[in-house]
Amino acid sequence: NFAMLVLGIETSCDETCAAIVDDTGRIIAESMTSQIKDHQPFGGVVPEIAARRHLDCLDDHIRTCLDKAGCQWGNIAAIAATAGPGLIGGIAVGVMTAKSLAFARDLPFLAINHLEGHALSPMLGGNIAYPYLLLLVSGGHCQFVLCHGLGRYAVLGGTRDDAAGEAFDKAARLLGLPYPGGPAIEQAARGGDATKIDLPISMLGHAGCDMSFSGLKSALDRHVKRHSALKVEDCAAAFQHAVVSQLCERAQNAIIMSRETAPSCHHFAVAGGVAANAVLRASLAALTKEYHWNFVVPDQKLCTDNAAMIAWAGLLRARAGQCNGLDFAPRPRWPLQENS
Ligand code: KG4
Ligand code: ZN
Repeated sequence: NFAMLVLGIETSCDETCAAIVDDTGRIIAESMTSQIKDHQPFGGVVPEIAARRHLDCLDDHIRTCLDKAGCQWGNIAAIAATAGPGLIGGIAVGVMTAKSLAFARDLPFLAINHLEGHALSPMLGGNIAYPYLLLLVSGGHCQFVLCHGLGRYAVLGGTRDDAAGEAFDKAARLLGLPYPGGPAIEQAARGGDATKIDLPISMLGHAGCDMSFSGLKSALDRHVKRHSALKVEDCAAAFQHAVVSQLCERAQNAIIMSRETAPSCHHFAVAGGVAANAVLRASLAALTKEYHWNFVVPDQKLCTDNAAMIAWAGLLRARAGQCNGLDFAPRPRWPLQENS
């Protein structure tokens, strides 16, 4: 007596995750480990270590999910895994595991684009419908996507250099704060004064909604080197302010662009690890309110990398009859546009 259940697997970066969702978007079970502690000594994700850790614990997470859901393999309708983009060693672990299970259990296999997982994640429990505008901001990705429907994504703009999360991580390193940098900077910024340091807000006034963060990072670097008596908290606050200001100014253009091609669009969603930032959320909430748009932020655990969004994307694809062959090769690079 089970609804259609799909098992999802996510191993494209430093989180080993499995989850089971049903066809209403309910998360029936999930299990995951974060490898942050393994990579922290190196100040960033080490691909080789990541792949080995995925291999160590993915099987257990899948078993745990089935147990938590109280179901057998016979209740699972399909198996989805992130097949790119990301760190290829980890992706290969997830894809090979999913393919083997699909072959052994004679189940459909779905090779999911990680970015599509993020793009569709606002639908998991979110009060949202197509078309919606999504700001995807994580450590590896930074783009505005207009989601018209399954497989119909228009990328309106993206970063010209670093992703916003990557910028947070690099800035944290410059300031002697731990990895991952986003949460560390947000915390430090609470005790700082953003007006103490003048950092540039890149792309201001440029047409379109492309973003850029490397100039800001260099400006912070110069500032830190020149002024030895700087308070880390002030630097963190100024940096965060510059990133959030840019994202909001760009978001405004993205909203205007969306209205041109999708006049009925009135949903704005934010996803990716940086969406955890409370200052960014508050600023985007205020901006979208000005336009009378609905603002959707998925649960924190759905914003960062997770397997539920992969299972959900897999479920929608399976329902649309778009399963993949077991010969599907993982793709380290896989732009969302190629999915449409
Ligand atoms: O989506 P995610 O878990 O992994 C991928 O990159 O795909 O995002 C991780 C990124 C890291 O760069 C981290 O510094 C950033 O999200 N991040 C934050 C915050 N929490 C995580 N950035 C700003 N403020 C935060 N509170
Ligand atoms: Zn991600």
